[in-house]
Amino acid sequence: MNEKIFKALNEQIKHEFYSSYLYLSISSYFENIPLEGFSKWFRKQANEEHEHAMKLYQYILDRNLHVNLQAIDAPQVKFKSPEEAFKLALEHEKKVTHWIHQIYELALKEKDHATAVFLQWFITEQVEEEKNATDNYDQIKFVGDDRAALYVLDQELGKKA
Ligand code: FEO
Repeated sequence: MNEKIFKALNEQIKHEFYSSYLYLSISSYFENIPLEGFSKWFRKQANEEHEHAMKLYQYILDRNLHVNLQAIDAPQVKFKSPEEAFKLALEHEKKVTHWIHQIYELALKEKDHATAVFLQWFITEQVEEEKNATDNYDQIKFVGDDRAALYVLDQELGKKA
């Protein structure tokens, strides 16, 4: 595997683990409010992000290489409002999409067909992740300070988790 692609894949493992950290942090915030449906949703997202990291990890091993795990930054731990937390999640997913696309473009440029095909799963996954994050953020903005509506939303999202 080309060195640049190897480096980018290792970097992406870090990003996916960071995503997991961030969503755990948001989950903890909601647990304490308490909005337990939102907390459950973000706990599930955190587990999914862990799986994404492990998919990349396994791919590097499948290519007979050694994974270079990196330090993971601490995520934001305090949030002013549910809206801020959902906004942060959406902004983060957009960044992840951008990083995935960058590695995909690199794989095409370097003619690493196996990596390009492998990354297609992530490209498709990001469409769903961004859609969910956008829907959630839009709904949170829509309910605003209406606590009763927020409670209903919390219950609904909890059922999807
Ligand atoms: Fe694995 Fe939500 O990006």
